[in-house]
Amino acid sequence: MRTTISQIPVEYRHIAGFTLLVTYIVMLLGAYTSAIGAGLSCPDWPTCYGTWVPFLQPEIIANSPYSALQIFAEWAHRGLAMTAGVLIVGTTLGAWVTHRNTPIVKWSATAALALLPLQVILGGLTVTEDLQPIIVTTHLGVAILILLCLLTTCLVAYLRR
Ligand code: HEM
Repeated sequence: MRTTISQIPVEYRHIAGFTLLVTYIVMLLGAYTSAIGAGLSCPDWPTCYGTWVPFLQPEIIANSPYSALQIFAEWAHRGLAMTAGVLIVGTTLGAWVTHRNTPIVKWSATAALALLPLQVILGGLTVTEDLQPIIVTTHLGVAILILLCLLTTCLVAYLRR
């Protein structure tokens, strides 16, 4: 029993590390979306041109004022953000199961999870409010906070191995 429990955190640190990596890639993809002027290439939210997968309807891409690359970047940013969200939920649950006696791991993961709904709402507002600077800036600010929380979770989980 003791062996089993002591082995769980070893796997947990890899989960935390993977979540950190995926969240970092979401941020890079967001910056890329912004840099190529694709922030409004999916003009609606949460769907993109009223569908979850616009690439299944070639006429949507053909009739859009944005290129396929621009639409793909924004769409992929949203999709990967959803994946990161699921991973953050798992990382937080895992922290409470495997690091019951390590408050820093539990609470930094929980803080990342608490910020997640805010970040999703800000992402939606980024689109529906036409890239208002204050919203885009806050979206970036919250992303950095989430990454810092996950970095703390991950580093402490590795150090306490
Ligand atoms: C884990 C969740 C998310 C993270 C960590 C995240 C992070 C980021 C980052 C770092 C940027 C670049 C900001 C900049 O360069 O100024 C960005 C851009 C963007 N994000 Fe997110 N994002 C997330 C979820 C979402 C969601 C759910 C949406 C929904 C629409 C969204 C929409 C956007 C848009 C439209 C941009 C481009 C803004 C522009 O053109 O300036 N994000 N995101």
